[in-house]
Amino acid sequence: MTMVIARRGHLAATTTERPVSEGPEVSRRQVLITGGVAAAVPLVRGRAAPSLVRRTGARPGSPPEQVHVQFGADAASQVAVSWAAAAAARRPRLRLGQAGRGFGIEVPAEERVYAEALSGAVVHTYHARLQHLQEDTPYVYEVLHEGAEPVPGTFRTSPRGRSRGFRFTSFGDQSIPAPVGLGLGPATANAGFIVDAVDALDPLFHLMNGDLCYANVSDAPVQTWTSFFTNNMRSARFRPWMPAAGNHENEVANGPQGYLSYQTRFELPDNGSPEFRGNWYSFTAGPIRVISINNDDVCLQDGGFSAFRRDNVPGYQANGDNPYITGYSQGLQRAWLERELAEASRADDIDWIVVCMHQVAMSSAHFNGADLGIRQEFLPLFDAYGVDLVVAGHEHHFERTFPVRGVLPGSTLLTPAPRGSNPAEIDTRDGTVHMIIGGGGHSTPTPPSDFDMPHDGVLIVGVGPGSPQSQHASITTTEPAPWSAYRDLQTPYGFASFDVLPSEPGGTTSITVTHYGAAAGSSVYSPLDQFVMRKPLHGTRGAGRQLARTHR
Ligand SMILES: [Fe+2]
Ligand SMILES: [Fe+2]
Repeated sequence: MTMVIARRGHLAATTTERPVSEGPEVSRRQVLITGGVAAAVPLVRGRAAPSLVRRTGARPGSPPEQVHVQFGADAASQVAVSWAAAAAARRPRLRLGQAGRGFGIEVPAEERVYAEALSGAVVHTYHARLQHLQEDTPYVYEVLHEGAEPVPGTFRTSPRGRSRGFRFTSFGDQSIPAPVGLGLGPATANAGFIVDAVDALDPLFHLMNGDLCYANVSDAPVQTWTSFFTNNMRSARFRPWMPAAGNHENEVANGPQGYLSYQTRFELPDNGSPEFRGNWYSFTAGPIRVISINNDDVCLQDGGFSAFRRDNVPGYQANGDNPYITGYSQGLQRAWLERELAEASRADDIDWIVVCMHQVAMSSAHFNGADLGIRQEFLPLFDAYGVDLVVAGHEHHFERTFPVRGVLPGSTLLTPAPRGSNPAEIDTRDGTVHMIIGGGGHSTPTPPSDFDMPHDGVLIVGVGPGSPQSQHASITTTEPAPWSAYRDLQTPYGFASFDVLPSEPGGTTSITVTHYGAAAGSSVYSPLDQFVMRKPLHGTRGAGRQLARTHR
């Protein structure tokens, strides 16, 4: 086993795109898994990314912009619509109605503002919370300010329980479709293309697995967020795009952990801790409990460092600003997660527990690598309460595992133990499937040369010296990777779709997972990998949930 000091991975900003060869290299394992997939699922063709909206300056009557939808804790009855404006809006509000019936109620929006630490710019955001909606119902809305044109949108509430199947989608590490400011942050055309590719599949909701727009490494963070939401609102205005906070949402000096932009711009389900609102939360859609968590709380890696902010945020040193925030919740998030998992594992109408997070528990690339802190703090809870699926990012490629539970015998690295060997059909009563879906659009995909060969895992086990002025380098090691079921070494960009069948003949439920990939500069996202997760309905629950019952 080798021990090396890793380079900084993708943490530094980059403005260059690496050349990427056209077309994926297809391994024998991949052929076995994906045979017939191309015939079974359609290509998804995105439109060209739109040019950025450029404001000429704040003025009274600024129209609503950056409109996006989020689910509340109960996706069948609760939705929030959020937006921003270039200046303080007068009478911000939302009109709601049902398709074909006109608008009914009008809901005032709450204004939330923050001052961005780098520039001092004040950002105005608005949030309209909608309650008591009808399940599985399409709604129309428009958001309004006094003296500005309204912006229309639509959304659909979730079905309740096992009443109907649906699809959701997921990716992480998107960035924005064109450079802003000095171009210090990542940007690619694919960050635009992927929005249309996702939207073309008409998901009920979309999960963003952290590293949303990389505002923390930009000289123009407010414009970066504006570009991000302007780009995504082509879809996020019509369906919830639900986020997890990644290391690049940590804009040091914006609030105690740097998450103030993220927290202000989203309206996410309550977690009982106002100071950490949005950092972790959950919602229920049909038979699925989605739990979004923030791994910066437990990761060893120093992932939030930004030399630009160190050098340009006024008073950085005098104020004691520090982007290394490991352990910031002092166990609060872990305690919440355990309560949440315990409740979800007991609920008879929840068949699937899906965790959305950013940094990964397993990876076979020397990019960042997986993080031992996640294994120490969170994986025992995933095992104890039967988490079915984890979607993550951080590593800028696609990779997935067999179901895992526990650790390899005698492993001091807590290497997860595979509990199955069939990559195409997985019973998640055996363990948790982890997916890295980090090809949302960042201009530096994991290069093929970063994948460990022949095929070991890569793990961050500590950090070297560092300080708020100097990033801690990661200390990494390699490990056996019997957990690895599939990895794509060649396709830089992509997302995954999840087709949920809540009730099948014979008393089972299934989720069919398809990974779509695209070459750099291409708007065509093609199916490359597919597998099925299937298990009995919760009323006939198996080993995973029984573990949960004996754990308490
Ligand atoms: Fe990333
Ligand atoms: Fe990341």
